[in-house]
Amino acid sequence: MTPLFERIRDLIRMEGPIPVSVFMTLCLHDPDHGYYASNPGIGRDFQTAPEISQVFGEILGLWAAHEWLEMGAPETIFLVEPGPGRGVMMADMLRASKVAPGFRDAVRPILIEASPVLAEVQSQRLAAYNPIRVQELATAPEGPFILIANEFLDCLPIRQFVRDNHGWAERCVGLSTTGELIFGRTPSPDPPHAPPGVDQLERAPGMAGLVIELAGRLARHPGRALFIDYGPAASPPGDTLRAYREGRQADPLTTPGRCDLTADVDFSYLAQLAEAAGLRVDGPAAQGEFLLRLGLAERCARLKAHAGSQGESVHRAAMRLVDPLDMGSRFQAICLSPRSSAAPAGF
Ligand SMILES: C[S@@+](CC[C@H](N)C(=O)[O-])C[C@H]1O[C@@H](n2cnc3c(N)ncnc32)[C@H](O)[C@@H]1O
Repeated sequence: MTPLFERIRDLIRMEGPIPVSVFMTLCLHDPDHGYYASNPGIGRDFQTAPEISQVFGEILGLWAAHEWLEMGAPETIFLVEPGPGRGVMMADMLRASKVAPGFRDAVRPILIEASPVLAEVQSQRLAAYNPIRVQELATAPEGPFILIANEFLDCLPIRQFVRDNHGWAERCVGLSTTGELIFGRTPSPDPPHAPPGVDQLERAPGMAGLVIELAGRLARHPGRALFIDYGPAASPPGDTLRAYREGRQADPLTTPGRCDLTADVDFSYLAQLAEAAGLRVDGPAAQGEFLLRLGLAERCARLKAHAGSQGESVHRAAMRLVDPLDMGSRFQAICLSPRSSAAPAGF
């Protein structure tokens, strides 16, 4: 039993079953015992693309420099990263984009991080770049920006809805007669709009707020928002809440706060929200195709040639990112921009 288990059990005893989104928020962000607040395990519990190969961040850095030029090369460009993990992608992006000198002078990194533990790691890794730190996008400085987020949307807490003969119900976490956490359902007062034939839906309430904030900023400034994450390209995911601990899938209910909780991103819903907010939407495109169009194979060949005896493992790691049987098709890239923009590179 974890300390957070006791806290959640007491909360349910007092208030009744809690929606999955509340459970997820407590598990990830409880200030004392939440997974990201206390003991985030990037590299231990799960691996991410920037941690697998430096080529990932390097290619995205070059993409950012290219888009900056397309945006008219503004004098200051904020490079915004929500959920920067250990700061690896930002470091790789900034290092690689030095080949575009104007960009290097214009760029100001902004980090948005909920975890104090990871914020400390980022501050050490990125000290030379003097990043600005904000708690949420709404409080970031105003100006032209390029936002790039890898595996951020999948951490946004989700509500889960299920339709049966009685209509829509919301999945919740309650207590069994013996005091264990269990999943149950309560009738839903605000059922979601579902495409015909869909009986299971997940909705991240934070996603709508994020898109509205982005749309406001993109109406005021040139910009791009690129999200890379996992989930099906077209259809809404069903029940995809998962827990990870030490590289393996775990039961999300047994050790709250000790494992990462995630859910597939509903890219069709994200695109719908963005279009309704008046934005241009490019993608989702399979990560593999996106990175290959941006020159991953060429960059990788150069890296391999300079990596000596490490060449083969460097090459193998980078190829995982684009392999259709690995991350290449499971992950998608989607870009939001003002409707008047040209198609961003890679789509
Ligand atoms: C799965 S990790 C990905 C880290 C990094 N982007 C990478 O690819 O290695 C999720 C990151 O998002 C952060 N995070 C989760 N929810 C957040 C929130 N609501 N606001 C800001 N950061 C958040 C986590 O602390 C962590 O840095």
